[in-house]
Amino acid sequence: MLVTGLEILKKAREEGYGVGAFNTNNMEITQAILEASEEEKSPVILAFSEGALKYGGEYLVSMALEMAKRVRIPVALHLDHGSSYQAVLKALRLGFTSVMIDKSGEDFETNVRETKRVVEAAHALGVSVEAEIGKLAGVEEHVAVDEKDALLTNPREAQIFAEKTGIDYLAVAIGTSHGPYKGKGRPFIDHQRLKKIAALLPGMPLVLHGASGVPKELVEKINQYGGRIEGAQGIHPDDIRQAIQEGISKINTDTDLRLAFTGAVREVLATDPKVYDPRKILGPAREAMKRVVKERIRLFGSAGRA
Ligand code: G3H
Ligand code: 13P
Ligand code: ZN
Repeated sequence: MLVTGLEILKKAREEGYGVGAFNTNNMEITQAILEASEEEKSPVILAFSEGALKYGGEYLVSMALEMAKRVRIPVALHLDHGSSYQAVLKALRLGFTSVMIDKSGEDFETNVRETKRVVEAAHALGVSVEAEIGKLAGVEEHVAVDEKDALLTNPREAQIFAEKTGIDYLAVAIGTSHGPYKGKGRPFIDHQRLKKIAALLPGMPLVLHGASGVPKELVEKINQYGGRIEGAQGIHPDDIRQAIQEGISKINTDTDLRLAFTGAVREVLATDPKVYDPRKILGPAREAMKRVVKERIRLFGSAGRA
């Protein structure tokens, strides 16, 4: 059933588990996410970037809405990294139940002003809002404190930002970054910073972007069948577990699904030269993504919470 993002995340924050926000671009990805979540009896957030909406159009959303209404788990349809008020309004018109406005690249006052505008519109329709403060960048453990401070979320600023805007959940920059290349050294989560933010915002669900684990076996499969993904690394499962205990409730995953998809497609094409039926190419990719979603759900502790 379709519910708001806040309904899912409030419970997760109170009970101390995480919920996955998985990005979709097409039917197979949406099916993989919803089927895996339903089999694990887990609530889930189905995320669409503006790029996904451009690629899949309104049909991608109608299909997801239809599927979301039929599954027996709570599902929120979420706009990921909405770049403008207009993009958010479009998502609201399409029936999204959660929207992100991302003005983290602007100065603090602009971020507050633009986010507040979105909160007013979305809340009038009962839709929950995520916003971000700080800059997503792979930061290494040994980087100097002032260099970290310039990029990562300032706890006091986060508190003021949440109070001024009335957002429902907050994306924080604590060292992770998007994609399969998360910095040069071992990817690092600034747990001290996260704990400070959570202490200043009691009860507020926090969001971790760039959270993919980039499992070695997924990368190896791609490379085994002709791909070239070098130097890829992600966030360690132990870091994710700890971050959830410290206040992270929404965990965004896109890259791991992309890697699983690509590896499976490459394997079929490389091992079965006669294959030309799209279902025989995309079916295994859907299964591979399902396995990733299930593994993530178990890591986040949301299995059986639906
Ligand atoms: O955070 C970004 C997501 O991974 C979506 O990426 O804009 O390429 O669809 P995208
Ligand atoms: P990954 O690239 O680590 O999967 O992060 C995805 C994300 O943050 C989507 O908003
Ligand atoms: Zn993101």
